[in-house]
Amino acid sequence: MSDSPVALVTGAAGGMGAAIVQRFALAGWRVCCTDIDAGGLDALAGDSIVVMDVNAKGTFFMCAAAIPVLRATRGAIVNISSDAGRQGNLNAAAYCASKGAVTLFTKALALELAPDDARANVVSPADVRTPMLEFQARHYGGGDRGAYYRALLEEYPQGAQARFIEPQEVAELVFYLCSPAAASITGADFAIDRGYSAGK
Ligand SMILES: NC(=O)c1ccc[n+]([C@@H]2O[C@H](COP(=O)([O-])OP(=O)(O)OC[C@H]3O[C@@H](n4cnc5c(N)ncnc54)[C@H](O)[C@@H]3O)[C@@H](O)[C@H]2O)c1
Repeated sequence: MSDSPVALVTGAAGGMGAAIVQRFALAGWRVCCTDIDAGGLDALAGDSIVVMDVNAKGTFFMCAAAIPVLRATRGAIVNISSDAGRQGNLNAAAYCASKGAVTLFTKALALELAPDDARANVVSPADVRTPMLEFQARHYGGGDRGAYYRALLEEYPQGAQARFIEPQEVAELVFYLCSPAAASITGADFAIDRGYSAGK
């Protein structure tokens, strides 16, 4: 067990964070979980409000703290950005700015880590079925969550087959990017969005 690799997951009590914790644990990794919500960490469930401090500065400081270990162990960072890190979304200027920062920060970081063969990649999901999506529907849905979800799904190319992304799907991609099989992948931005961004 002590020889098994270690993953550090931030926001581990949240929808995607919890799925990522479970995916790594399933593969026998030792998983160090951090979250501002201590109670939620216990239950591995939580809720959050997105601010520039958390998304941009939080990512920066966590990476800065982890880099010495990652350089020494040829480790890998996977930051979670968003489709909003690649394009402007209406009424989401601060969120877009924070996620744009995460995306380009990660690409630049990949260059700095490369001489030590450590890696950094970024994953950019569209709408994932987590408490954050419920939070958005509650606060921005004008009292009609169903209409809010339907309006989001209309933006996907699947038409009647449109659905939200599952946190486990994101976890699978994150796990892959941390595995030896992904040793040649660094500095990449992966859309996981059911084609949402393909035509934008
Ligand atoms: N859900 C989506 O549709 C979606 C889409 C694209 C990108 N994202 C991004 O994915 C990431 C995870 O989102 P989620 O959907 O799992 O959200 P979530 O709300 O389900 O979970 C977020 C977790 O982060 C924790 N957290 C918040 N502030 C923190 C802090 N300062 N320190 C430590 N922990 C903190 C919360 O307590 C919560 O447990 C976020 O960066 C989000 O912006 C989400």
